[in-house]
Amino acid sequence: MTHPTRTQVVIVGAGPAGLFLAHLLHRQGIESVILDTRSREDIEQTIRAGVLEQWTADLMRDLGLGGRMDREAHFHSGISLQHGRERCHLDLEELTGGKRVTVYPQHEVLRDLIAGHLDHGGRILFGVQDVDLSRVTADRPQVSFRQSADAAPETLVGDFVAGCDGSQGHSRQHIEGRTEYHKLYPFGWLGILVEAPRSYHELVYARHERGFALLSTRSDTVQRMYIQCGVGEDLAAYPDERIWQELRERLATDSWQLREGRIFQKGVVGLRSFVSDRMQRGPLFIAGDAAHIVPPTGAKGLNLAVADAVYLFRGLEQHYAGQGRARLDAYTDTCLRRVWRAERFSWYMTTLLHVNPEENAFEQRIHMADLEYVTSSRAAATALAENYVGLPLDG
Ligand code: PHB
Repeated sequence: MTHPTRTQVVIVGAGPAGLFLAHLLHRQGIESVILDTRSREDIEQTIRAGVLEQWTADLMRDLGLGGRMDREAHFHSGISLQHGRERCHLDLEELTGGKRVTVYPQHEVLRDLIAGHLDHGGRILFGVQDVDLSRVTADRPQVSFRQSADAAPETLVGDFVAGCDGSQGHSRQHIEGRTEYHKLYPFGWLGILVEAPRSYHELVYARHERGFALLSTRSDTVQRMYIQCGVGEDLAAYPDERIWQELRERLATDSWQLREGRIFQKGVVGLRSFVSDRMQRGPLFIAGDAAHIVPPTGAKGLNLAVADAVYLFRGLEQHYAGQGRARLDAYTDTCLRRVWRAERFSWYMTTLLHVNPEENAFEQRIHMADLEYVTSSRAAATALAENYVGLPLDG
């Protein structure tokens, strides 16, 4: 065993929560080391949803990381909700008093955060193994790991440990006494990346009797589209032509044409909601997907992870300024208030827009009536828009 390395905050996981936390701490002169079991390439290439709430994009800029985003991202002042052949524009900007969303894929955010942190002299150890949090105890939190399979174990000693290692990570297992809330949806999403020009100027969320469809974008030449499919569906059952047929039908209107192209990536994901009602134990704090999952329909996952990072940072900042532990002690409660609202919204968008095979005809009609309400009442549209662009951090 080599000599322990000392830092202030050990961060496990170089995803959105871990990287935003490291940037915020660095700006305040608080040291951290990030460990991740994945390689830098893996992290920078994993495809995830890409909608940043207004404050998340503003935080990127505030941290000096907004340059490429401002050049390459797409700023959307509205979304469309479609029911059958009727497509209805929701003017987010007008309904929320000037807020927009930024369509900038998560892996691009991570590329900017990783490059920026390394440029600042920040430490990120990629591709580590055997990360062990069993000695994260109150008096001397220690995390051990190996740099590679045949390397000797090393130890990091910190004041605090931030578990930002995603839903499959181990850090949550060390939060004793937690209650977990789960919901599995009886459907999934089949997502594709397509070489094609944009088909529409904004995101289209469609409810159709054949199931949900979403038209999103990645760039002027690459588009992202999804269709509702069964749970654990085999991709072999979806040759390209079947996917196009479903997209054409579910997104059809009387006056619009889907632009098709070469599909170069396909994948299926399940939809689930999950919340851990404890996010801290002693010096260990968990953030992002390690603590909660939302289905992708409201595009809230990344933004929630960043909100946790901001709340944890505020607590650590207060502690290191010698002003006590009040914010750290309140971390779980502060996060969960916002988390449950985002859980509600993501569940709502999911149930509103998908055809749930377990629901009866009455329940399906209720969702249709809801969709009509949202697209015809300014009050209902405002409630949806306010959540979509993101609830305030301090609310
Ligand atoms: C995406 O572009 O991947 C995307 C956009 C909006 C969502 C989910 C995913 O709600």
